[in-house]
Amino acid sequence: MIARTDIVEVVGSRVPLTKAGREYKACCPFHTEKTASFWVSPEKQFYHCFGCGAHGTALRFLMDYDHMTFPEAVEDLAARLGLTVPHEGGGATDPRDTTLYDLMGRVAGLYAQRLAQDLRASRYLTERGLSPETAQRFGLGYAPDAWNTLLTRFGTGESDRHALLQAGLIIERERVAGAVERHYDRFRDRIMFPIRDSRGRVIAFGGRVIDRGEPKYLNSPETPLFHKGRELYGLYESRSGGTLKRLLVVEGYMDVVRLHQAGVTYAVATLGTATTTEHLKRIFRLVREVVFAFDGDRAGRGAAWRALQHALPEAREGREIRFLFLPEGHDPDTLVGEEGRDAFEQRLESALPLSEYLVRELSGQSDLAHADGRARLAEAARPLIAPVPPGVYRELLIARIAEVVGLPAARLAELWHGGATAPESPAVPPPPPRTARSAGRGGLVRQALARLVRFPATAAAVTDAERDALTRCEEPGTDLLRAVLDDLRSQPLQISAQVIERWRDRPGGEHLTRLLEREAMLEDPAAATVELQAALRKLAARVREQRLKALEAKSRTSRLSDEELKEIQELTTEKPLQGAKPPRG
Ligand code: UTP
Ligand code: MN
Repeated sequence: MIARTDIVEVVGSRVPLTKAGREYKACCPFHTEKTASFWVSPEKQFYHCFGCGAHGTALRFLMDYDHMTFPEAVEDLAARLGLTVPHEGGGATDPRDTTLYDLMGRVAGLYAQRLAQDLRASRYLTERGLSPETAQRFGLGYAPDAWNTLLTRFGTGESDRHALLQAGLIIERERVAGAVERHYDRFRDRIMFPIRDSRGRVIAFGGRVIDRGEPKYLNSPETPLFHKGRELYGLYESRSGGTLKRLLVVEGYMDVVRLHQAGVTYAVATLGTATTTEHLKRIFRLVREVVFAFDGDRAGRGAAWRALQHALPEAREGREIRFLFLPEGHDPDTLVGEEGRDAFEQRLESALPLSEYLVRELSGQSDLAHADGRARLAEAARPLIAPVPPGVYRELLIARIAEVVGLPAARLAELWHGGATAPESPAVPPPPPRTARSAGRGGLVRQALARLVRFPATAAAVTDAERDALTRCEEPGTDLLRAVLDDLRSQPLQISAQVIERWRDRPGGEHLTRLLEREAMLEDPAAATVELQAALRKLAARVREQRLKALEAKSRTSRLSDEELKEIQELTTEKPLQGAKPPRG
């Protein structure tokens, strides 16, 4: 089926493509960039981004871009070709059967219709400042004050009731002898907020009481269509408003709707849960900047700290994560209502960067006037830094904490590192496995490059073996790293400005300038030398590992040549580059 799908059509319907020779190109939808490095090849039916390394087939694209699961993506491609996907188990209904989506859509339609007919419900929305256009844009509705609105309309047959039950729209009663009706509607006398997936299909509802009832908000349960920890209310609406630059994460349905109405059309909300790392992953596939807004009260501060903890594994250079604390007694809904879009967006501009929020919270817990307090801060910071993927951002974060603690960054990192392996500190969570993925795309290449540009003299410390190991490295950005390194080794320079000058008109020059700007806080040339070499050695190890894996995989399906066998032997016996371990004795 993949063979019959046209990747140009699949990608092209979501990202504007320009023809360039036999291929097509665009600005990469998976990271932020100004010049196009995302290529789609109709011949190979493959896409590839030279900037961030994203690549794959039409299926992979749908899964990543539209956040579809594998079966969803298959179904989508099949539907394009006018095919239906045979589901496992023959005739049995698939839980994700399109009829369930259909049903949700029709239910939302019914609720919207009832809203138009119900004076009390529509007056409530007007009183809360919502226009009919906004209500329509979000598909708001009203679930009438009755036990069987959906049951009588959509649940006449046994299989219909089964579908309603699966969709979480009705609830099964305890068995009572002689009971007439076994089910009842879940949502009654509530304003209904349809929750849509990335394609705009209704997958769940949130329902708010009008003036009576408990709880204030009732959400759909987890269903085959709806997984709370993954979805963001308002994401579909935000995406359909044009190009997204950033996302604002707020706490409530009303906040989202009211913000959009006021012109802040990039607001989304988690659904009565904390922000998860999965939310963050989805967010960063779309934008590079996210602001979290929290109420200024105790609960809000708690939620902010939890959001910070989930955000740390996703923090890295090129991404911006900030925190906005609203005045007590306000939420985004009331604030934007009172002061309007401009003033509200002004607040966003002054939101605290993650690093500052982190330092502020930690400083508040310890008395920094004394060594004890500073040491406590360093200890408290360590498990928080652990999940941050290695890279320039992590280095900057460490540098910032070092500044507060009053130690050189390299020394702090060393202390942390030593402590983490020492037996007397079992309470610290182990750092995440440093696979290629958790290291961040191009993380090591970037680290190395950043140090070379910041302190060009470090190039002299790089050994031939370290340089040669880069030859086979395919990490994005390695070309530039090799070029800069070779250049500096043959024609040494002393200061950053000379490097920038020399590369002004060479490919990659702009990138070096940007890197340098972000590196302003790297202060210690000795530490930089050590870090540069460490990054090069890690890259070399990674190259070896990847090559070994590839050969291993090949050996499972075909016979390896003598040359390949020899290579395996070399790879497994090859000594790590000199200096990979501190000399003993
Ligand atoms: P809030 O209680 O802050 O309400 O809950 P709100 O969003 O300001 O709503 P209005 O302005 O009174 O209408 C914030 C979010 O927490 C979840 C909902 O997602 C809500 O939007 N929540 C709240 C629930 O899931 N259940 C509840 O009972 C209350
Ligand atoms: Mn509110």
